[in-house]
Order: sequence, then structure tokens, then C-alpha cells
Amino acid sequence: MPTQSRTSLQGLWSSRTAFVLAVSGSAVGLGNLWKFPYIAGEYGGGAFMLVYLLCVFAIGLPMMVSEVMLGRRGRRNPIATMRLLGEEEAGSHLWRLVGAVGVFSGFVILSFYSVVAGWSLEYVVRTASGTFTGSEPATVAASFHNLTGSWERLTWWHTVFMAITVAIVANGVQGGLERAVRILMPLLLLLLVILVGFAASTGELPAALAFLFRPDFSRLTPHGALVALGHAFFTLSLGMGAVMAYGAYLPQNASIASTSVAVVLIDTLVALLATLVVFPLVFAFGLDPAAGPGLVFETLPLAFGRMELGAIFGAFFFVVLATAALTSAIGLLEPATAWLTETTRLPRTWAAVGLGSVVWLLGLLTIFSFNTLEDVRFWQGTLYHNLEHVTVNILLPLVGLSATVFASWVMCGNSSSEELDDDAPVVYTIWRFLARFVAPAGVAVVFLSAVTASPDLG
Ligand code: PHE
Repeated sequence: MPTQSRTSLQGLWSSRTAFVLAVSGSAVGLGNLWKFPYIAGEYGGGAFMLVYLLCVFAIGLPMMVSEVMLGRRGRRNPIATMRLLGEEEAGSHLWRLVGAVGVFSGFVILSFYSVVAGWSLEYVVRTASGTFTGSEPATVAASFHNLTGSWERLTWWHTVFMAITVAIVANGVQGGLERAVRILMPLLLLLLVILVGFAASTGELPAALAFLFRPDFSRLTPHGALVALGHAFFTLSLGMGAVMAYGAYLPQNASIASTSVAVVLIDTLVALLATLVVFPLVFAFGLDPAAGPGLVFETLPLAFGRMELGAIFGAFFFVVLATAALTSAIGLLEPATAWLTETTRLPRTWAAVGLGSVVWLLGLLTIFSFNTLEDVRFWQGTLYHNLEHVTVNILLPLVGLSATVFASWVMCGNSSSEELDDDAPVVYTIWRFLARFVAPAGVAVVFLSAVTASPDLG
């Protein structure tokens, strides 16, 4: 029988704000600052942005509400939560597999996420020391390839980044996660706003605004729409237990719907701000908005290298990137850490160190995919491409879909309305409609297209 309000085994957030900061910390990451600008550029700007916004609010938001709800109702790590709720609501312990696959995906994602986050650390140093002052495009591109070609550099930064992540997670919910996001999230927003001001005054703001906010539907391809949908999902950290794990520490009296709306708004705001930093510079310096994944690392240093105080603002930009990646990385490590401490009673510190070491080792596969093992290619490309494809494009949608179906179809209406009862009845009705029909349809589309083809989706 559903029991109201279990006790969390790991402690609680001290407030609703702490929860909003933590979940938006997990949501705001490389996806917003690195990936979103380049896909928005690649798929033509305005029309793509509109589709993206629609996906975020109609599909991402109800899924987020579902995951937070499950997490808070179970009050355990995602695997134990799904097992418990599965038994309570459906008499089956198989639902724990949903949690298990989610936790596993988070773990694998962290292994390559940390490597890319490491690039931003290297770029903090490079931009600050004036490496790019007056550089030509070819030099900047070559310098990026130098970095990815050196497994020593990559390993060094991967190690630094993982060590910081482990140190934060080891300190627990309030002492580690909460303290970190309370400092890092406001810092990130502040730096980002300063950068937007800088880009607007040095760059071509009108051209950027026209590109981003004047929808031209002739430039939107069906594939672009799919990418928007897949990204809506990734950027909100859905489908891998992070949101569920954080939901487990949410105080019982906090409204799930309004906290989720706040998170989605913050995530969207950061993605928009990121484009407002990147595109004025891109247009001012005649760079290509459709440059692809290299946009942030290969074109922005060029812009920073040609402007006054560029070294300072460039370094700022990469600090923002690294900070955002860090708050996401702690969200990726937390579910597995909670699971390990709850199942083995290992102290949190050891659980975090142990899991962090395994992630570190796994990360070497990604590192070598850029150099020594670059020629080992199969299916989607290098080892790294395969890891990314399986986790981000296949497992995340599957887990997200299952969690949403569980919350809206399998869980009895009383249980879900009990969790959402701080909100007006209409909120519950809207959530249930979106979660039952709209979100599954959207996820199914992304998922099917990912398994059938398109390696660059996500
Ligand atoms: N949401 C993060 C980002 O946008 C990525 C992420 C995905 C983090 C899944 C955790 C889980 O960068």
C-alpha cells in the first residue's frame, strides 16, 4: 500500500530552492553551452528554436514531473525506488530494471562527459594565457586537434575533473551537492550575463537576434526537428536517474509541478543566453554559424583572440562551461553512489571514490578514441561514438519513456495525485494528459529514428 512520505536514506535538500538549483545544475551543462548553439546554428536558427521550445515544454516538462514524483515517492536510489514502487503499484519487481539501466547510463555518460569537460579546463588556461591572441582560423583548429591528439593532456584534465566531482559527491547531499550548487549556479548565471553584455557590445547583436528569433521554416528539415526533440530530452537530464535521485531528497511539502517548471525555465534561459554569447561573435567575425561541434572550441577562441580583453572574457567563457559541466557531472555520479551506499552500507566517501575510479578508467576509452585508437571504427564510429550513441540516443529515451509510462499509466491515480496535490487540479489533468500521450509519442519518435539511422542525433 502506498505510504505517504517515506524517509530519505541520504538526507534532504534544505529547501525547495536548493532542489531547484541542484536539478537545474544537472540540467544546465555542456548540452546548453556547447551543443545547443552548434545545433541551433547547424539547423538554421529561428524555426529550430521554436520546435525546441515546444518539445521542452510539451514533452520534457511532463517527463521531469514524472521522474521527480517517482523519486520522492520512493525516497531511495533510482533502482530501489523503481523496485519498491513497481511492487507497490504493479506487483512486479521488474520495474527496477528501469532504474538500473538509468543508473548504468549515467555512469557511462559521465565517463565521456568528463573528458569533454576536461577540454574546457584546458581552454581556460589557453585563453587566459593569450594563446589565441591574433590567431588565424587554421591555427585555432590545429590547436584543438593537438589537444584531442594528446592522450596525456586529455588524461590529465579528465583526472582533475573526476577528482573534483568525486570530492563533491563524497560530501553528501547538504554538505557536498547543495553547497556546490549554491555557489556554482549563481556564479554561472552571473558570468553568463556578463558575457552576453560583452558579446552584445562587441559583436553583431542584431544579426544574431534575426538569426535566432526570426523563424524561417524553409530552413527546418525533419531531421532538424528530431534533433530538437532529442536535445530537449538530453538537456533536461531525463532518463538516467539523476532527476529521480534528486527527487528522492525533495521535502514532502514542496510542489513538484512548480519546481519542475522553474528548472525547465532556468535550463531554457541558459541555452538562450548561450546562443546570445556565441552568435553575435560568430557574425561579427564572419565565422560559420553551421560549423558543427567545433563551434565553441574552434571558432570562439578566434573571436576572443581578436578583441580587446578577449583573454579575460574568453577564460570566463570556459570557466562557465567547466562549471556547468561540473554541476551536471555530480548529478551523473549521485544515482550510482546512492545505490552503492544503500545496497552495501559502504560509507559514502568510499562509494564515491570507488565509482569515480571505475568511471575514470572507462573514460580512457573515450580519450584513446581521439588518438591512439582513432582508427578502431565500427557501427557508429569510434569507441566514443558508440558509447555515446547507445547511452544518449537509445538508453536515455527508453528509460525516460518507461518512467513516464509507469508514473502516468501504471501508478494508480491516487498515488500520483497525492504527490501533485499541492497544485491546482488542472495542473494534474494537464500533466496526466501530456505524460500519457504526448511525451511517449515524442520519445518514441526520437527513439525509433535513433535506432534506425542518424548517428548524429541526440
Ligand atoms: N543535461 C546535461 C547537459 O545539458 C547533460 C546530462 C544528461 C546530464 C543526462 C545528466 C544526465 O549537458
